[in-house]
Amino acid sequence: MEVVKTIAELKDIVRKVKSEGKTIGLVPTMGYLHEGHMALAKAAREENDFVIMSIFVNPTQFGPNEDYESYPRDLERDKKIAESVGVDVVFAPSVEEMYPTDGGIRIHAGRQATILCGASRPGHFDGVLQVVTKLFHIAEPTRAYFGQKDAQQVAIVTTLVRDYNFPLEIRTVPIVREEDGLAKSSRNVYLSEQERKEAPAIYQALKLAKEEFLNSKDAEKAVQKAKDYILSNTASGRIDYVELLSYPDLKPIDEKTDQFLLAAAVYIGKTRLIDNIIFSK
Ligand code: PAJ
Repeated sequence: MEVVKTIAELKDIVRKVKSEGKTIGLVPTMGYLHEGHMALAKAAREENDFVIMSIFVNPTQFGPNEDYESYPRDLERDKKIAESVGVDVVFAPSVEEMYPTDGGIRIHAGRQATILCGASRPGHFDGVLQVVTKLFHIAEPTRAYFGQKDAQQVAIVTTLVRDYNFPLEIRTVPIVREEDGLAKSSRNVYLSEQERKEAPAIYQALKLAKEEFLNSKDAEKAVQKAKDYILSNTASGRIDYVELLSYPDLKPIDEKTDQFLLAAAVYIGKTRLIDNIIFSK
């Protein structure tokens, strides 16, 4: 496995791989890899001739009071994990390499970014689309892999690809969880021992709410059930949102909705965790 730090080096590799008629799978990450990222890489490995994983903590998707500085980073550890799942090239650029100039042009995520995480993290999805657009142009993937863990991110990136004719396919991989149900996340390392014990309540709450909705068809009641469960089963839990929307368009549900996204963002202590369930009636 090779590790490259410059766009020029990666483009050389991509040119060669393409000239051999090979397909490329791209796995964009911010590193501190866990089994969730590994599942994306494994899917990419199965479906493509060549696998590129990017590891880049993208400053433009973090708000001023968010955890950009403290976000966990360990490239040496990540390299070993990436190699173990068959990644061919890790692309780990510096911030200067990715953003050498700023002409002020921004990609603005639309309506789908005004709700859920977009409401509490203004500009976050603009930053995601900025880096993802650059990665798509640099790596020229046949397929790009995203986790359902960030369902809103998948929906928005899919819209970008469709509306602006990026010549690639977005592939979604199911959420990988700890044994107790907590969705794997690089941010789980922030949790204290007590908080770690409380965190699985988020997924438990979502499962209860899904059952409630399937039984009663009452979205408000279902969402309230999830909120109540989280508040009564965590000492340090503070709810950012719990919402039930249509998926992937992220609109209010109605009788015609056939796919549902039940999503939550919850602060456990100072750590903001997200989780979701996608289901049909
Ligand atoms: P990051 O949080 O590192 O996640 C990289 C990819 O791994 C995302 O597509 C995310 O949905 C997926 N992922 C994370 N945890 C997962 C889990 N438990 N199960 C399945 N997939 C999981 O998301 C980002 O980085 C960034 O926004 C990025 C797309 C790289 C742009 O900077």
